[in-house]
Amino acid sequence: MKKDFLWGGATAANQYEGGYNEGGRGLSINDVERGARHGVKRQIDDEIMDGVYYPSHTGTDFYHHYKEDIALFHEMGFKCFRMSISWSRIFPRGDEKEPNEEGLKFYDAVFDELLKYGIEPVVTLSHYETPLTLVKEYGSWRDRRLVEFFENYCKVVFNRYKDKVKYWMTFNEINGCLEVDRPWHQAGIVYREGEDQYQTILQASHHMFVASAKAVIAGHEINPNFKIGCMLIYPLSYAATCSPEDQVANRDKMLSTFYYGDVHVRGRYTNTCTSLLKKHNVQIQMEPGDEEILAQGKVDYIGFSYYFSSIAGNGVEDIEGNVVSGGKNPYLKATDWGWQIDPVGLRTSLNQLYDRYQTPLFIVENGMGAYDTVEEDGSIHDDYRITYIREHIKGLKDAIEIDDVDLMGYTPWGCIDLVAASTGEMRKRYGFIYVDKDDEGNGTLQRKKKDSFYWYKKVIETNGDCLSEEE
Ligand code: BG6
Repeated sequence: MKKDFLWGGATAANQYEGGYNEGGRGLSINDVERGARHGVKRQIDDEIMDGVYYPSHTGTDFYHHYKEDIALFHEMGFKCFRMSISWSRIFPRGDEKEPNEEGLKFYDAVFDELLKYGIEPVVTLSHYETPLTLVKEYGSWRDRRLVEFFENYCKVVFNRYKDKVKYWMTFNEINGCLEVDRPWHQAGIVYREGEDQYQTILQASHHMFVASAKAVIAGHEINPNFKIGCMLIYPLSYAATCSPEDQVANRDKMLSTFYYGDVHVRGRYTNTCTSLLKKHNVQIQMEPGDEEILAQGKVDYIGFSYYFSSIAGNGVEDIEGNVVSGGKNPYLKATDWGWQIDPVGLRTSLNQLYDRYQTPLFIVENGMGAYDTVEEDGSIHDDYRITYIREHIKGLKDAIEIDDVDLMGYTPWGCIDLVAASTGEMRKRYGFIYVDKDDEGNGTLQRKKKDSFYWYKKVIETNGDCLSEEE
């Protein structure tokens, strides 16, 4: 493993930060998103309703605990820490010209605290956090004007933090726009009755592509050392059988991921992209100059999340739970939330992405949502989490050491417990650090180290050499 391999952990403001109405912050779309309850999926309200609990409002309160949390990350030996900036903390409505100074100061304090310990911040610019005003008054990324608002926001944070932050990503899991049935996460889009959903989301995605490219161009002008990536969910899929038809079905399944990858990395709509547009009978409206912007604003690396794999083909049985629908693989076990566990698939994913793009990769999310039990003495024995992460690290090491894939780093998701994006739950935990809060929002927010905390510390200390629990 390279000496400068970026070991760390990942979070996002909408699930972790809290402080939703403090420091002059405006509302963001996730502030009106309820958790899933009694078989009802997550849903968006028009505004904050009395008596309803919204999980993002406190998250797990990084806003007030950042010093304590960063000290714990340092204790684990983190080389980097992935977080997001909440757009509406900087621009409370989203369309202002001037930023909210108090919001900027908060992230100054966070980055200073990280740098004090030599932890490199890795910052997502938009992780499910479209300002609510842009959603309500503009229809979110349907409206081309968001390109300008986003560019302005990026320029402000790039200029402010140009000497503190080097690694950036534009839109979290942008291909989730097509993959997941909650396009308000990625694009702030709540579908309107009767509209052609593919036309809407693919046009909105075009605006996001242009915005991402403009951010890359502006970022490189502000600091040529910036590394600015895209961020994809990588929903690895295998053909269910060796039947040629299943291979075609499998290509079809991966089309939307490569649609987003191609535009970001190759800087143009490739045949993969045009075939997807044809499939959905969608025409993208471009403005003069868009093609040049996309070509100029290619990303420096691909950040991606990897949690599970699935299969595609004739007559496959869908597995309940995977955030992206897919078929059940008889060779794999699944988590309590039905996500199929496939560490070897991480090596395959790294190879597929690197073979296709020859661009540095960064695993910015991976992990296992699980129930944790706090013992009477306060300890938490999460051996299932250690097993999951250990096996995935073996997969990534094989990709680096045997296959020569260029991998920048590894930041397991929810390194400290936070709110689950797909359900709004707290009991679905990913952390090395436990946070005392339940699904209704009750709890002291006290932090506790799980067994995995000590194990991951040793992994980082030995640069990935020591993966066993015993040594
Ligand atoms: C990714 C997201 O989809 O997966 C994160 O980028 C999310 O925001 C993570 O939290 C895990 O999903 P969940 O639903 O278990 O939180």
